[in-house]
Amino acid sequence: MQATKVAIIGMGTVGTGVARLLLDHGDRTARHAGRTLWLERVVVKRRDKGRAIDLPDGVLTDDLAEVTSHPAIRVVAQLIGGLEPARTITLRLLESGKDVVTANKALLAEHGPELFDRARALGRSIAFEASVAGGIPIITNISQCFSANQIESLHGILNGTSNFIMTRMEERGAGYDDAVREAQRLGYAEADPTLDVDGSDAAQKLAILAHLAFGARVHWSDIPRRGIDTLDAADMRYARELGYRIRLIAQANLRSAGIELLVSPTLVKMGRPMAEVREAYNAVSVVGDAVGNLFFHGLGAGQMPTASAVVADMIDTAVGRTAITFRTLELWSRREARVRPCGPEHQWRRFYLRINVVDRPGVLGEIAGILGKHLISIGSVIQHESVGGTPYVPLVIMTDIAGEKNLQAAMSEIDRLTSVHSPGIVLRVLD
Ligand code: NDP
Ligand code: HSE
Repeated sequence: MQATKVAIIGMGTVGTGVARLLLDHGDRTARHAGRTLWLERVVVKRRDKGRAIDLPDGVLTDDLAEVTSHPAIRVVAQLIGGLEPARTITLRLLESGKDVVTANKALLAEHGPELFDRARALGRSIAFEASVAGGIPIITNISQCFSANQIESLHGILNGTSNFIMTRMEERGAGYDDAVREAQRLGYAEADPTLDVDGSDAAQKLAILAHLAFGARVHWSDIPRRGIDTLDAADMRYARELGYRIRLIAQANLRSAGIELLVSPTLVKMGRPMAEVREAYNAVSVVGDAVGNLFFHGLGAGQMPTASAVVADMIDTAVGRTAITFRTLELWSRREARVRPCGPEHQWRRFYLRINVVDRPGVLGEIAGILGKHLISIGSVIQHESVGGTPYVPLVIMTDIAGEKNLQAAMSEIDRLTSVHSPGIVLRVLD
């Protein structure tokens, strides 16, 4: 049988999984690719470091040139995280005639235009299924299977680490810091887990999906985002009392004025599939005008689910399928954006508000008056009696559908009231 020589750069969580699939299950890749994917080299930073897998003699190296100058290696999985040296290594691989597969969304969200332009100019390709939602084949689905549709909205849980942390806190009463450490131990978290918990990783993935689904050219750092790091366990409890769970939701909604992009902890109605996504699972719900609503669910982080997506990309690249889609997609080309972000005046939804107020007559009326003035109608209110002699009580309000801009204006007035203790908490609601 014919063999295509391949290489891996980076032998961490994902690289090790990819090596396992290539070495232990060569029969599967041979069956699907009609050829063997032969692991010729694995490049690491420190050769002497202990590895969780035994590689055949002569495969492990710390010299990238053993890949770039190897004429028979055609496909390279670039699996180191962060921006540098990942960017320089990717450019060197493309320039030495290799097709690249990567799981590095930070790299694509930051340097996608440069890398894709370079790949196109050199007649090479970059495949990146594993960069969003780990094992869920969402990139292929959005870029190929929805081609007959105008995608109208897309929302999802795109960060496995945040979802894992929230589930552990909700279900096992774990402390936040312990849950973060466990996510690191299990190989879900980024090398710097701040990117997971502050919403940056989800925003990077949303920027990639919005680019594919809507032709939006938005830099990830321009997407309004909030992570779970500022979430208070009290809000998780109130949400439950109201029949919701809080999930870190990334959403892109096509409005008549443009596209609305947002990453934020969001109340999702219990019983909806999105609310029941647990642990390191991800989910993506996509609405197309022809196909209707499709829901994708699967492990969004972790060694083998991510390796599954990487190896599928390596097979597609080896047999030539990636080259065709890469050419036709024209990702991050200099073409004009098809849609631009729209402002808060075009965004409408329900909101959850928690406002710590002085426990005295008339306060609820004062707050209801400000919300009413800004055309925000109250759906329900929870106010428990104060305990332990504290002069403040949390007032929890669910609004009816309201404008994001109106809500912002109302909250800045409410926060200035002398009866309000600290800035109110505002979370979005997904019914
Ligand atoms: P790890 O931190 O576990 O592994 C990174 C690897 O890169 C290490 O083995 C390190 O080598 C190697 N490396 C760093 N610098 C160099 C260099 N200059 N030359 C060669 N190797 C180098 O990361 P992950 O495997 O978790 O993640 C890899 C990528 O995949 C990231 O972009 C991440 O965002 C993405 N990803 C991760 C997922 C996950 O669940 N973990 C899921 C989806 C995407 P050494 O071992 O010698 O230190
Ligand atoms: N750290 C990422 C997450 C890995 O937890 O989702 C998958 O991209």
